[in-house]
Amino acid sequence: MTTDVVILAAGKGTRMRSALPKVLQPLAGKPLLAHVLGTARALPGGARIHVVVGFAADAVRSSFAQDDDLLWHQQAQQLGTGDAVRHALPALQDASRVLVLCGDVPLLRAETLSRFLENTPADALGLCTGNLAEPEGYGRIVRGPDGEVLGIREERDCSADERTLREVNLGIMLLPAHRLADWLARLQASNAQGEYYLTDLVAFARSDAVAVHGFRLPQPEEALGVNDPVQLAMAERLYQRWQVESLQRAGLRCADPARLDLRGELQFGADCWIDPNVIIEGKVRLGDRVRIGAGAILRDCEIADDAEILPYSLLEDARIGSAARIGPFARIRPGSEIGARAHVGNFVETKKVVLGEGSKANHLSYLGDAEIGSGVNIGAGVITCNYDGVHKHRTQIGDDVFVGSDTQLVAPVVVGAGATIGAGSTITRAVPEGGLTLSRSPQKSVPHWQGPKKSCTP
Ligand code: UD1
Ligand code: CA
Repeated sequence: MTTDVVILAAGKGTRMRSALPKVLQPLAGKPLLAHVLGTARALPGGARIHVVVGFAADAVRSSFAQDDDLLWHQQAQQLGTGDAVRHALPALQDASRVLVLCGDVPLLRAETLSRFLENTPADALGLCTGNLAEPEGYGRIVRGPDGEVLGIREERDCSADERTLREVNLGIMLLPAHRLADWLARLQASNAQGEYYLTDLVAFARSDAVAVHGFRLPQPEEALGVNDPVQLAMAERLYQRWQVESLQRAGLRCADPARLDLRGELQFGADCWIDPNVIIEGKVRLGDRVRIGAGAILRDCEIADDAEILPYSLLEDARIGSAARIGPFARIRPGSEIGARAHVGNFVETKKVVLGEGSKANHLSYLGDAEIGSGVNIGAGVITCNYDGVHKHRTQIGDDVFVGSDTQLVAPVVVGAGATIGAGSTITRAVPEGGLTLSRSPQKSVPHWQGPKKSCTP
């Protein structure tokens, strides 16, 4: 049997108090809706995916412009979850089952949904429920004397007794498509919110003798709905905890699992170690025995075996060679390739740089648009002057060069292998191989010199 997934994403999310539509609010670096789409795509049997948008529809659609597998439907006015599904109705396949998901329920796992699909008979109405210690804000499940589901009551429509029920509707329903047109046409907005509630379909199913199957989620936190910034942060923490737990089970060591944030994908080899407050973004790959120090941020990086990233370094779009040492307080910008056993120390910034094997830039440097050979020593305060105000220019430094402290290399410039550049030089022309090159104004001393004195007049 085919499945049509309908994701409800038309609401504004007023309680978020944000200019960004709710389903575009980021969780682990990705919009909420991207998480729900990921789950829908992971369902077995390749479901067709419909998204109902309304508030800021263009912004939502353009955030997913690359996803050409989605069927978009526009709900002009947000008249309720039942009305939202009505907008997808003409595009649904009569023979399929319709799985309704909410764009603001991002943590649900595909495995859980698969079990829900398996457990619900083909012509039944299925809904996911959960027992919550704090059921506030959710629709309550009203059961009969034999435990059968009689209906769902929205909190605002609950009696005082019903409000004490702990079993809630998690907002995930499975519906036989061929009954939907009839059921949705019967909806009435006669409730506290004046909306067409999808949840009223449960009562219609019962009156049409269609079985209603409640599926209790073993871990109802998975269906946490994000309605305000408090719940968004709760969802983020849960998601991070689950991610880090699965990394730990795969062998990752970290000092504090609650203080490692992954906003992307992390691959790692054996015996890697991560200290607290590290953030990993995009795609990051660590070899074996890599160590990441406290407060480091790694975005789209590859770090080879035995390399060490010392505290508070920021690395973006970079490749770090084996046993290299970066930081503390280094800024490695896009296009940096740091060779094996090379060192980049504190307050050094690199950008579009190849730093050869065993080369060192240990303190206070800017190295941009440069190719630096192996065994090179870059002294403290060395700067590649790569920008003339209009264009960027390259610096090339051969193997085994020694660049003295506080040297400016005014690009384009080439430094021959084995050269030594004296400290404090401003290099504007090619430096020959070997030997010593320096550009310095001669040192002067003025004996018996007296500085200006402050006069005493008031
Ligand atoms: C809904 C359920 C409630 C359940 C809860 C679980 C209904 C009537 N209530 O309540 O039983 O406990 O989810 O999280 O279904 N949306 C639209 N168009 C609309 C209205 C809503 O697309 O006209 C979308 C929203 O963007 C959101 C989802 O539907 O993604 C749920 O809407 P929301 O207003 O958050 O419903 P809840 O009050 O949370
Ligand atoms: Ca909600």
